[in-house]
Amino acid sequence: MTTFDPGFLWGAATSSYQIEGAADEDGRRPSIWDTFCATPGKVDNGDTGDVAADHYHRYREDVAIMSELGLGAYRFSIAWPRVQPLGSGAVNQRGLDFYRRLIDTLLDQGIQPWPTLYHWDLPQPLEEAGGWPERDTALRFAEYAAIVHDALADRGTHWTTLNEPWCSAFLGYATGRHAPGRREPAAAVHAAHHLLLGHGLAARAMPGTRVGITLNLSHITAISTAEADADAARRIDGMQNRLFLDPVLLAAYPEDVLADLAPVTGFDHVQEDDLKTIAVPLDFLGVNYYSPMLVGHGTTPTASAYVGSEHVQHLDGGRQRTSIGWEIDARGLLDLLLRLDRDYPAIPLYITENGAAFDDEVHDTARVAYLDGHVRACAEALARGVPLKGYFAWSLLDNFEWSYGYAQRFGIVHVDYATQRRTLKDSARWYAGVIERGGL
Ligand code: FCB
Repeated sequence: MTTFDPGFLWGAATSSYQIEGAADEDGRRPSIWDTFCATPGKVDNGDTGDVAADHYHRYREDVAIMSELGLGAYRFSIAWPRVQPLGSGAVNQRGLDFYRRLIDTLLDQGIQPWPTLYHWDLPQPLEEAGGWPERDTALRFAEYAAIVHDALADRGTHWTTLNEPWCSAFLGYATGRHAPGRREPAAAVHAAHHLLLGHGLAARAMPGTRVGITLNLSHITAISTAEADADAARRIDGMQNRLFLDPVLLAAYPEDVLADLAPVTGFDHVQEDDLKTIAVPLDFLGVNYYSPMLVGHGTTPTASAYVGSEHVQHLDGGRQRTSIGWEIDARGLLDLLLRLDRDYPAIPLYITENGAAFDDEVHDTARVAYLDGHVRACAEALARGVPLKGYFAWSLLDNFEWSYGYAQRFGIVHVDYATQRRTLKDSARWYAGVIERGGL
């Protein structure tokens, strides 16, 4: 049997827009995702988060499920447009009250609350003022962080500022695959900086708490050792991983990435001391891992989230894929963790998301196999000395999977959207067993 330290934290994750519903209740106002969903052609099947998994009304039942599974922690996000509906100015007490009730219910069950301040639901008025490409959005984010801190910081154990700023910046502003759906490569790079700045300012606005950030990182391999292919891998690693890791943990942008981006934008938007702010000391780094990447040199540029590196080809690694089309490779998680430990030592790591989309099955053998393989990779990383402290499955519940709508199911708990009935999948039962035994 593979055993984990008794202190290893086992959790599950969700996010506000993906599960809450209650889109216009108790003073919540639209976020960029409400607007995006209302725009024809943006989300498969015209799905929206208006009702989602109705967690806003069913949170007690959902916490009871977490308790049944034996979860040590629950990672969720706070909807900025519930707490500060216009993104600046007036605070909505009813929004804060919801999260206070949720957190208190978790604490009653002995489950650690792990709130994330921002999982992509930017209040719409802030996008109308320019969104993340504008520096002011970072300042507004810090103000919102201070509001949440004043109201709830005595209750959250570990706070996360941002979830996956790569997606906010490059899917939101470069490919337009995510809200707000803009296709402006230079603006996307500016957005990345202002998200990072917002992270640093928000972390500073939450004194006395344990704070981290969650990045979506990948293990990137070149198709061959040829110089051009190796350069393709360096570029994608730069944009996906180092553009975020280096400022946050080393207080510097990677020089090679700045050079790659030079044809797209200068870096005049970076002000003196920004990097000092961004590199605020953190208590942990959250890692979201789903899939590895295989790349090679190409000659025909194609539209890409990797702005400045549009010529890089993204190749098929020949592995089995989940229903969303992502290749399965638990070894990539191990390689990523070893690399983080080598290049960014000493920061405690948590896997804050890992999981798989498979079709609507309660007997989800493929998901069990996916999770089992990745939890084994975590055990191997621990055996090799990586300071990994916990693992969160994505996701507790089937939910609104962004531009894929409800068609892609990531839950370990099945949600029947017509009745909102929850049913444990085999993966949930398997996970409860892992937690109970403390291992595989
Ligand atoms: C991550 C997101 C999360 C979910 C999973 C599948 O990129 O953080 O909200 O959509 O992917």
